Amino acid sequence: MSSTEATEVKPKEGFSSRKVFIFAAIGSAVGLGNIWRFPYVAYEGGGGAFIIPYLCALLFAGIPLLYLDYAIGHRYRGSAPLSLRRLGRGAEWLGWWMVLICVIIAIYYASILAWASKYAVLSFSKGWGEDPETYFMHDYLHRAKVPGPTMDFVPEITWTMVIVWVVTIGVLALGVQTGIGRTAVVFIPVLVLAFIVLVIQALTLDGAMEGLNAFFTPDWGALTDGAVWISAVGQIFFSLSVGFGIMITYASYVGRKTDMTGSGAVVAFSNSGFELLAGIGVFAALGFMATTAGTSVGEVLGSGGIGLAFIAFPTIINEAPGGVIIGVLFFVSLLLAGITSLISIVEVIIGAVRDKVGISRLAATFVVGVPIAVVSILMFSTTGGLYVLDTMDAFVNSFGIIAVAAVMMLAVTYVFRKLPVLREHLDARSSVKLKGWWPALVAVVVPILLIVMLWQALRDKLAAPYEGYPADLLNVFGWGMVIALPIIAIVLSSATRPSGLSAASFARPKPNRQISVATGKIRNPAKNRNVKADAVP
Ligand code: ALA
Repeated sequence: MSSTEATEVKPKEGFSSRKVFIFAAIGSAVGLGNIWRFPYVAYEGGGGAFIIPYLCALLFAGIPLLYLDYAIGHRYRGSAPLSLRRLGRGAEWLGWWMVLICVIIAIYYASILAWASKYAVLSFSKGWGEDPETYFMHDYLHRAKVPGPTMDFVPEITWTMVIVWVVTIGVLALGVQTGIGRTAVVFIPVLVLAFIVLVIQALTLDGAMEGLNAFFTPDWGALTDGAVWISAVGQIFFSLSVGFGIMITYASYVGRKTDMTGSGAVVAFSNSGFELLAGIGVFAALGFMATTAGTSVGEVLGSGGIGLAFIAFPTIINEAPGGVIIGVLFFVSLLLAGITSLISIVEVIIGAVRDKVGISRLAATFVVGVPIAVVSILMFSTTGGLYVLDTMDAFVNSFGIIAVAAVMMLAVTYVFRKLPVLREHLDARSSVKLKGWWPALVAVVVPILLIVMLWQALRDKLAAPYEGYPADLLNVFGWGMVIALPIIAIVLSSATRPSGLSAASFARPKPNRQISVATGKIRNPAKNRNVKADAVP
């Protein structure tokens, strides 16, 4: 191979069409965050009144950040670190920060999918018995008495996690179109269908209307609470999969002429539509549970999240007519929604490693997938896994994603001054023109909002230990993890490719200098074309 060939960027694999890309992006967005987190966050945030902060967060923060992610990935055509490096020298570490956030999310997300698959099977026989809380905490998780990591493994969870990881790695090994794209095209319609049947079934239960009243009755007072607005933005970011590299990576797999803003609008509104559907289904079921127990919906909702899925839902399934159908549909939906999201999270890491060291997809999938799976299984199939999961989830969402999104927006705008170029890039091929509103939001409004959010999260977490957990647990898996991520990212961005590896994706795109066979002179084809300074081959 000549040196000229060796420094050319390898043709990227990609999605076969805009439709497949949209399915994959919806597959990433619709996940655990939609099904169990949204109903609870919306209820806490004022029920029907939450729709106002939620829509504002979607339109003025979520979609602008989604378009920024798309613009970076689509223009610079690489994983998050490579795209950002191409955007500006010195920006690569931001991409690695996103990659590391994905590592953290992937290792705990897989354990929740393992629980969901176990519960999908248990649903057929209502195998959790009469007391779902005792079953979940003691008989299934064997939760340690003292919060903190342990080395006591729960073999049943270990094996289920192995299966989740084998499926995830298997899909990713098949590649962008055959693996990620096809899985999304098959899973997403099945998920939507299963969820619609679930919601219809839930709406027929006694007390369903009480549940919907609780969900939709507005508490206007909540709108004056800044924390409600902040939680709406946090919900939208996690749920839309923006700010942690996923949409940058996926956008780099899309054809150059694709309408990115129109596609983004479809993805964003589909994700929110699914979220609303989840809210209706979950609250109809909770209304039934409250009516049966003679108590309020707020009471049965408990602390939301894990308790909602693995304690409240089994209780509903035990008592509801057609409970087995509700159970199977609910846990299968959770599994389908979650697996397509986990695939997208791990793809961020695979894409980054591939671009950095220049190895094949298959090799990168195993080099990334196997160690992450091992760490994930070692950490989260233990009796202390739930505490570590809760801590990492809370800290990475409050600080990691918000911080990296704020720094990226400020860097792109003020350090690298690329907003006009990115806006032109999107406008040149898109149906929804961005005009001046997008730069104003990305450069000023959203970063200010994110900094306020960070400040508030910092104050809350410093005021009292999160969930009353011991300092050691919080210092290592909360604060320690959050501080370590950007530092490791800087180290990774300065690392050079191991010698002996030929591909050179991280090489700065250079004019393609060739020696003419006829004349022996060096010619530079770029000079003859109208190549923009920061355009990428
Ligand atoms: N967007 C994914 C979710 O909501 C990560 O779970």
